Amino acid sequence: MKPLKAECGHNALDVRDDFPLLDQLVHGQPLVYLDSAATGQQPQAVIDAVARYQQTDHANVHRGVHTLSHRATEAYEGARDRLRRFINAASRREIVLTSGTTESINLVAQSWGRPRLGPGDKVLITHLEHHSNIVPWQIVCEQTGATLEVAPILPTGEVNLDALYALLAGGSVRLLALAHVSNALGTINPVAAIIRRARELGAVVLLDGAQAVPHMAVDVQALDCDFYAFSGHKMFGPTGTGVLYGREALLDAMPPWKGGGDMILEVRFDGTVYNDLPYKFEAGTPNIAGVVGLGAAVDYLENVGLDRIARHEAALTACLTERLAAIDGLRLVGTAAHKAGVQSFLVGDIHPHDLGTILDHQGVAIRTGHHCAMPVMQHFGIPGTARASLALYNDAGDIDRLVAGIRKAQAIFA
Ligand code: ALA
Repeated sequence: MKPLKAECGHNALDVRDDFPLLDQLVHGQPLVYLDSAATGQQPQAVIDAVARYQQTDHANVHRGVHTLSHRATEAYEGARDRLRRFINAASRREIVLTSGTTESINLVAQSWGRPRLGPGDKVLITHLEHHSNIVPWQIVCEQTGATLEVAPILPTGEVNLDALYALLAGGSVRLLALAHVSNALGTINPVAAIIRRARELGAVVLLDGAQAVPHMAVDVQALDCDFYAFSGHKMFGPTGTGVLYGREALLDAMPPWKGGGDMILEVRFDGTVYNDLPYKFEAGTPNIAGVVGLGAAVDYLENVGLDRIARHEAALTACLTERLAAIDGLRLVGTAAHKAGVQSFLVGDIHPHDLGTILDHQGVAIRTGHHCAMPVMQHFGIPGTARASLALYNDAGDIDRLVAGIRKAQAIFA
């Protein structure tokens, strides 16, 4: 274990060397990667699993009698089994492989929502959501005549629970969709309590888990949610991969939303019989190599240990927040009591894009802008923020570099 700077008072996970990309210079400076909320980097184990698959097993899945097709199918379905275990779903039939959180949520909107919603029905979201948990519901509400309602947030960036519960109690909420963890502010929503209340009132609950799964153990049975959506690239797997978990009874009753190969048992011109779960929702040749990599990412995360990761990131987040808050003229945006390793901030009058560019020239990668969460920015009356986001491979040295970079930007703009 590498010791951290004393002021942060905790140790780093000894995993940085597992991520080859992190070992490089950017603009002549050692890279500090603080943009994992956008995309997590891949450990060598994931890179190797994808390369091995491409080099020795690559073929189409579920379709051939030949050896390569069997191997490809085994690798692909093996990843599904790992993903089931990863979130403790009751059955592999509940694990639909998608291209990411966005596709998972659109699937629910179109396949669960479109046939069921109508005028008088409500879909409830919060003001904290990523665009991918807003726009699919706007589309399905336009299609069906249902109404979209939005629970407000507090100045801390926490959901106003009294208002959320009042909206739920108002009746007619068929579905509540909310982030487990906010990508823009890092707020960890008290989802267990919210789900309990929503289910008592008869609403189906979807969680956007994209920012939760890389950072904490998730158990969908313990949460008792109906749908849980997440992405491979946030949890150190390849882009273009993701999962929709759905309760089997709900998925079973839902029609497919995309037609094509693999999602059928029999096709005739007088009617088609759809495949069993989960294949009913997996039309077309999937991202097989990506899913194999995602399976390897699950193994990697489980080997490091989600509880260790959560403890490490909680300590590092506290350090990040404290160090940023100590900078004169820096405003923290998002100060919830329970936060994952995401911190948005503004520095005086420096435009976030200018700040991001100055930091990049010092080798420090952060995200700037609205973070695909424009309503959050509207709530704070700002066009965007600078955002630093942490993962298991970050340590207090990275935070030192961020702080030094911000001070340099302040000196440039002084
Ligand atoms: N949703 C990703 C982010 O927060 C892209 O940066």
